[in-house]
Amino acid sequence: MSDNIYNQRIDYLKNDFLDENKLPDNPFELFKGWYKVALDQVVKDPNAMILSTLKDDMPRSRVVLLKNLDEKGFTYFTNYNSAKVQETNTNQNASLAFFWRDLERQIRIEGKVEKVTEKESDDYFMSRPEGSRIGAWASPQSKEIKSRKEIEDAVEEIKNKFDGKEVTRPENWGGLRLVPSYFEFWQGASSRLHDRIVYELIEGSWKRKRLAP
Ligand SMILES: Cc1cc2nc3c(=O)[nH]c(=O)nc-3n(C[C@H](O)[C@H](O)[C@H](O)COP(=O)(O)O)c2cc1C
Repeated sequence: MSDNIYNQRIDYLKNDFLDENKLPDNPFELFKGWYKVALDQVVKDPNAMILSTLKDDMPRSRVVLLKNLDEKGFTYFTNYNSAKVQETNTNQNASLAFFWRDLERQIRIEGKVEKVTEKESDDYFMSRPEGSRIGAWASPQSKEIKSRKEIEDAVEEIKNKFDGKEVTRPENWGGLRLVPSYFEFWQGASSRLHDRIVYELIEGSWKRKRLAP
């Protein structure tokens, strides 16, 4: 097993080198361009992103799904009582990482997390299948539970409570938006000479630089 890991190695050959003079000034544009390539090449779960938050000084990471991207930032949906939300309520700083294996690309994003409007949360919640909406009511996300049965019983209880009526959004469930101040676009290249292009928001405008791989 450890032998297999030790010797695991591939050369990244897929992309042409990144020429920073040909890249857009706005990192959101570059993100959207890369995202489109991910969709066109049918990358699995292209919207899966690793969200890292801080509990005191301990970084904590997990995958969430990107559900909206607008000019302000990257939105995901979750339980507002969950650990990740308590963490960003205390310290707004957070980061995202996308890894699109088939494209040999990674994007890292850093910024501050804020809540989206109730309307955005309602709109997205109501677009979800009923089973997921019931699950949002039934699951006290991040809390210890005794057994799987506890959740299954909670699901039955919620079904009875709504009794065929429309399952609306619980107050403790909704969207968060990471508003970026930093992007790093990484693209694999041969012999580990990868491209890394950083965009940083400095006094309201995006500044670009290249990092060594
Ligand atoms: C592919 C994938 C997608 C996920 N998407 C979400 C999501 O959009 N929202 C969410 O709350 N949890 C999502 N999860 C579960 C989280 O990774 C995590 O287990 C959960 O949110 C609890 O995290 P927390 O206790 O740190 O708050 C996803 C997990 C995976 C593997």
